[in-house]
Amino acid sequence: MRKIVVLFVVAFCLLSTGMRAQHTFVHKQSSTYEWPEDSLVLKKLDQWRDLKFGVIFHWGLYAVPGIVESWALCSEDVDWISRYGHNNYQEFKDWYWNGLSKQFNPTEFEPAQWAEVTKQAGMKYMIFTTKHHDGFCMFDSQYTDFSISRCAFKEHPKADVAKYVFEAFRKEGFMTGAYFSKPDWHNQDYWWDYFATPNRNVNYKIERHPEKWEAFKTYTHNQIGELMSNYGTVDILWLDGGWVSPRNNQDIDMPQIAAMARAKQPGLLVVDRTIHGKYENYQTPEQKIPEHQLPYPWESCVTLTTDWGWVKNPVYKTPNRIISILMEVVAKGGNLLLGVGPTAEGLIEQPTVKRLQEIGRWMQKNGKAIYHTRITPNYHCGNVWFTADKNGRTLYALYALPEGETLPAVIEWEGNVPERGTSVRLLSTGQRMKWIERDGKVAVTLPAKLAGSTEPIALQFDTPLPKQNKK
Ligand code: GLC
Repeated sequence: MRKIVVLFVVAFCLLSTGMRAQHTFVHKQSSTYEWPEDSLVLKKLDQWRDLKFGVIFHWGLYAVPGIVESWALCSEDVDWISRYGHNNYQEFKDWYWNGLSKQFNPTEFEPAQWAEVTKQAGMKYMIFTTKHHDGFCMFDSQYTDFSISRCAFKEHPKADVAKYVFEAFRKEGFMTGAYFSKPDWHNQDYWWDYFATPNRNVNYKIERHPEKWEAFKTYTHNQIGELMSNYGTVDILWLDGGWVSPRNNQDIDMPQIAAMARAKQPGLLVVDRTIHGKYENYQTPEQKIPEHQLPYPWESCVTLTTDWGWVKNPVYKTPNRIISILMEVVAKGGNLLLGVGPTAEGLIEQPTVKRLQEIGRWMQKNGKAIYHTRITPNYHCGNVWFTADKNGRTLYALYALPEGETLPAVIEWEGNVPERGTSVRLLSTGQRMKWIERDGKVAVTLPAKLAGSTEPIALQFDTPLPKQNKK
């Protein structure tokens, strides 16, 4: 009798946890991602998912002093916001609004160099900060004078910098996207001088001053309209500043923005960051990688240094670290968007170029295991990440080298057993590797000359066809 009771309790627990797990899963999936219905958007989303590796440039006034983007304008008492040598908030703001735009004169701006360097790195799409939270436009907006094309740089033939950035990248075959901050701290209809600006939010009560909010909405729609009309084909509208949203009582009418933008740019991917739903065509975890594979489109945005924009004395991630991140992201079904900050003069600095080139050398040899791949259910074991060819049969085992380590003599993993009688090859050279399988565990012996190498590798092999396909 006792046995029966125990069995019953165990069965009940199993069933109820199973049900709970399933419930959570279904709930999560439906509430956090909504697949677009527009077939052109779905098509572009598919193309974008195949690219895997992109770059985001943060470039604006903040490049002059080399500080954390526009954030010092925001009067929130947190450790990562500093006034950088100014001991008075008002004085800092005045300097930022009035001094910096007089100094920002990037005479060495050469977007062809940016495109060349990032193309060499194996990047396939590019996002550019057309306007950060400070409201300073890196495109020629007729709705404000607070822009690169109307300040110290205005006489330069490439003063409308966004135009030349997009052109240079399109020429190299990149997909292009506009980063655009929904909040605009320079705009009197968002941060009104009549009041203090205690935090990042709109600083007046919208219900008491609805006409001001309407004016802000119009301004935002107009500027996005300019970006969608005057800059050629734009593939992605990457909207930052998720606190501007209906759930925060700051509704800028995303349905209308998306409809207007897509009328000008059919199939446009709209990425209203962190606002899960219809206007977040892919999700953008920031400076982190999701714990597991996700069944919908996503992109981790990660900085090459510790910052999005250019800073003095940057601390870089190593090329191998970036490659490991890319392996993990792709094995989990996402894309990697790497953050690079050009200097106030308009250049990508040599130490950055060097690192990007090193990543590029690896991508050239191993890109087949990254681009256009699909996820596979058994995607991770120790230092090994797995991706699958579109045919679903060819797998790639990517060995992520931990910082400071060298390649081992033997690489092992569980599951993903190669098909009997086929070879496991080094992707970069096609060389066959010795491999054995015991109890579902695979061991691949690397050639002696690879042992001790500091370059991550990828292996390629075929797995047996799933049983139901065998006739
Ligand atoms: C964060 C930062 C913002 C930056 C963005 C890029 O939201 O606050 O300044 O532009 O990340 O992903």
